[in-house]
Amino acid sequence: MKATEKKLVVGLEVGTSKVLALVGEVLPDGIVNIIGVGHCPSKGVDKGGVNDLESVVKSIQRAVDQAELMADCQISSVYLSLSGKHIRCQNEIGMVPIADEEVTAEDVDNVVHTAKSVRILDEHRILHVIAQEYSIDLQEGIKNPVGLSGVRMKAKVHLITCHNDMARNIVKAVERCGLKVDQLIFSGLASSYAVLTDDEKELGVCVIDIGGGTMDVTVYTDGALRHSVVIPYAGNVVTSDIAYAFGAPPMDAENIKIRYGCAVGSLVGKDEVIDVPSVGGRPSRSLQRQTLTDVIEPRYSELLALVQKELLVLQEELKKQNIKYQLAAGIVLTGGASQIKGMVECAEKVFKNQVRIGQPLNISGLTDYVQKPYCSTTIGLLHYGKQDLLNDDAKDSNKSSLKGIAKRLTGWFKKEF
Ligand SMILES: Nc1ncnc2c1ncn2[C@@H]1O[C@H](COP(=O)(O)OP(=O)(O)OP(=O)(O)O)[C@@H](O)[C@H]1O
Ligand SMILES: [Mg+2]
Repeated sequence: MKATEKKLVVGLEVGTSKVLALVGEVLPDGIVNIIGVGHCPSKGVDKGGVNDLESVVKSIQRAVDQAELMADCQISSVYLSLSGKHIRCQNEIGMVPIADEEVTAEDVDNVVHTAKSVRILDEHRILHVIAQEYSIDLQEGIKNPVGLSGVRMKAKVHLITCHNDMARNIVKAVERCGLKVDQLIFSGLASSYAVLTDDEKELGVCVIDIGGGTMDVTVYTDGALRHSVVIPYAGNVVTSDIAYAFGAPPMDAENIKIRYGCAVGSLVGKDEVIDVPSVGGRPSRSLQRQTLTDVIEPRYSELLALVQKELLVLQEELKKQNIKYQLAAGIVLTGGASQIKGMVECAEKVFKNQVRIGQPLNISGLTDYVQKPYCSTTIGLLHYGKQDLLNDDAKDSNKSSLKGIAKRLTGWFKKEF
């Protein structure tokens, strides 16, 4: 196949800890073949927000250059993730009369569209409108209404909104690198696309992407997305706890955490000893590994308890709306900070439910580099982009392919900002 015929998508996560750019080729069977990886420590981003534009631009440029070199292609546009505590969600209902005898794809578009015309927070804009289920007249719980007959159709939708300026700043950083943004996507949503199976979504599941600065949480029940939230604390607070507790420079604290850290004390031998560097040229010291776990375990438990609190509130809300809440598939943890030893054991204590670590699914190619929890968001962006490409293809069978491409390049972002 010639390079120009390949269907390529690029995902870019500008995280608190790292910038990750991935180039993926969409294969006919829906697998994304990863052909380029660009990875660079992130500077100038905290908890999803840009606080130093110049530094962010440099980090993005480096990651994108690396990915281009490896994939041997030129990147002109990216699917970009967005996080931060400004991300909000609301469940809404749209309603339309059914124009003809049976529901058309256009009716479905319209009903979802009407659900968008609700009040959202000032200074916010809608990032995603995701259909949960439809009902036609008295029949509820319809997943795909096309072709069914009736008079009136309702759609339940999940809206995800973000603060305008937060979105604008991250897009600005990407555009300064001469790149277009195909679509801006909530990073928690992207991670869920990468790590969940359809069965888990049906059974009920909560995904927590624990990064450096944020925990991005999404909850699915009955096959539909019900809740999205960002909690602005994550792995970096654990690192700073270690730095303070042992008077170690932050870089050393990070290394100690990754090398010796464990989120459950009982998994660490009583007489294991580790070496801890000191600040100000003082000699390094020996410490029991257990002392390190004594710092890490309570903090991880506290972080996860914040999510558990959020889930309890959600449970009450869904009960009021008569929506079944059961997380039978448990909790899926992903993101860099989920890679710590003892993570599953620690989380099972907090959630009293089954827990697994989620790695990105449905990919091939450079999996040695990217089949890791810290890559989930970016891989999810590629799956999102893949769906756009496939949808365009379907539409292009009716229209000229040039129109399809033009539509993609002038996605909502160009129009609305
Ligand atoms: N093996 C490990 N054990 C413990 N923590 C780890 C490990 N590897 C990475 N981390 C932690 O994961 C965090 C970075 O995760 P990740 O790369 O997912 O963050 P990010 O996407 O840049 O940040 P965010 O999504 O919050 O903006 C850091 O806090 C780092 O210390
Ligand atoms: Mg992240």
